[in-house]
Amino acid sequence: MMPPRPTELAWMLLRGAIRAGDLVIDATAGNGYDTVFLAGCVGESGRVIAFDVQEAAIRSARSRVVAAGLDSRVDFHHASHAGMAAHAAAESVSVVMFNLGYLPGEDHGLTTQAWETLTAMEEAASLLKPGGVLSVVCYPGHAEGAEEAARVEEWLCARASSGWRVAKYGMPATLRPAPFLLLAAKNER
Ligand SMILES: C[S@@+](CC[C@H](N)C(=O)[O-])C[C@H]1O[C@@H](n2cnc3c(N)ncnc32)[C@H](O)[C@@H]1O
Repeated sequence: MMPPRPTELAWMLLRGAIRAGDLVIDATAGNGYDTVFLAGCVGESGRVIAFDVQEAAIRSARSRVVAAGLDSRVDFHHASHAGMAAHAAAESVSVVMFNLGYLPGEDHGLTTQAWETLTAMEEAASLLKPGGVLSVVCYPGHAEGAEEAARVEEWLCARASSGWRVAKYGMPATLRPAPFLLLAAKNER
């Protein structure tokens, strides 16, 4: 057995957190792999709200979702995830998924920004149901990504003191800092 990559592990763990009929958010639609995964998990009666700031990403994600026959379950927004709070009611969402960084094959300068990611995570925290899960794959292998990853981890660790359950999964001893998964379940109150 090969240890899973953080993106694979996110899918393995989130599968158990999503029920048919749930509302979930893909904060970084990219090429739509996560959107298709989420649309499969929520079933026919569920919904996925997906965001990306790049038109190329929305096009790519939409065509992947259409090819999977799941487009009736997904609302795409060509917009920043900082603003997601306008698209769902407080405490109505089961899972919010972030896969940070840039779109493979496109302009690497169009990467997620720490300040915007943190704004969106604040909004995600208010949208999540008690017990809902926030999943963030971070890419500390480049300077901007390292700064963003550190701030995201710090933000989530601060939630642990108010009862969130926070975990981190990654590969140690790599040549350059490897991607890692942060997973957090919102406090039940
Ligand atoms: C690593 S890719 C996501 C991969 C994707 N989840 C998939 O399964 O193919 C990161 C994406 O985040 C997007 N992004 C960057 N800033 C954003 C923002 N403020 N709001 C929403 N998406 C953003 C980028 O355009 C890029 O497509």
